[in-house]
Amino acid sequence: MQRPFRFPHVEGQVSRQAHCDLPEHTFEREVSRDGFFGSASHLYHRHMPTGWSGWDGPHRPRAFNTHALKQATPTLWDSPILLENAALQLRFWQCHKPMEHLLRNGDGDLLLFVHGGSGALFCDYGHLPIMEGDYVLIPRGTTWRLEPASPLSLLVIQATRQWFGLPDKGLLGQHAIFDEGVLRSARVDAAYLDQHSEERWQVLLKARDQLNTITYPYNPLDTIGWKGDVTVFALNWRDIRPVMSHRYHLPPSVHTTFLSQEFVVCTFVPRPLEQDDGALKVPFFHSNDDYDEVIFYHSGNFFSRDNIDAGMVTFHPCGFSHGPHPKAYYAQGNHHATDEVAVMIDSQQPLNITQSAQSVENLNYWASWQQK
Ligand SMILES: [Fe+2]
Repeated sequence: MQRPFRFPHVEGQVSRQAHCDLPEHTFEREVSRDGFFGSASHLYHRHMPTGWSGWDGPHRPRAFNTHALKQATPTLWDSPILLENAALQLRFWQCHKPMEHLLRNGDGDLLLFVHGGSGALFCDYGHLPIMEGDYVLIPRGTTWRLEPASPLSLLVIQATRQWFGLPDKGLLGQHAIFDEGVLRSARVDAAYLDQHSEERWQVLLKARDQLNTITYPYNPLDTIGWKGDVTVFALNWRDIRPVMSHRYHLPPSVHTTFLSQEFVVCTFVPRPLEQDDGALKVPFFHSNDDYDEVIFYHSGNFFSRDNIDAGMVTFHPCGFSHGPHPKAYYAQGNHHATDEVAVMIDSQQPLNITQSAQSVENLNYWASWQQK
């Protein structure tokens, strides 16, 4: 692995510390490598880095409205893919009826985020009740199905290159940002044993992005017990206890929840804002040029964003600086807490935008930073 250049240079007017006590009438922009982990510089600008007045060309900030993706589909494999590359695939799936087939994904782990609804997941490892706000991790090769109690809407992330794991917790210790004791695993309970049957079931196996149908003369979800640490489990965002500082705006990387190869999944959950007069209280402007950034807005008031509602997806490809909308930037002193819940996916490799995503795009999103 190459070593970065070390260039500890200070030029002109600067702040002594990042994100605090900015020189008067300036806007700070962080230029960083390796997400927020590598080398970085802080530049102090006279104008807001998002002050563009025009934008031509396809490489621009994007926003997609999942509410406009109306139809529910019988299986995940029929649901629209929004963004994808060789390392990940992002879908939005509405599952309204009990599945009549079992699913198996040979192409990677699946991470479901339950945006709405509740129900039951049945899989090789047993029965797992799921609800709004759950992440549900399904290891590659697991056979499973869903029985919604109320219509489920799900953000689904496939990790194609490597299984999902946890980030290094470093100084915070192993019980931050959630204690693994809160994870809920599938269980061989009465509901699971009740669905054992000698009736014919089919498994729809997706592998190499091709569908295969495997027929069994019985229900292959017939486990009577298991032991080990590969399983299907759920983590609800309400069990995440975020890290924050009253004097320093922490970077998004402290909200990392899952890690795979070439991308991370972060969760923004309700938290107090910084109290110190000199500390930034909104995300700092940044050029995160080694990553494409995706945010799915789940619930609450997304105070750093104008005109963004729950159920929307924003996509900030690398190559431009971004940050809070002007209204939020100037109103930051009026807020003491945020109740937003959002899922962020940061991808090292460029993501491709599908036709499905483009069909529900807000084409004026690039102009949403303009001051009114
Ligand atoms: Fe960003």
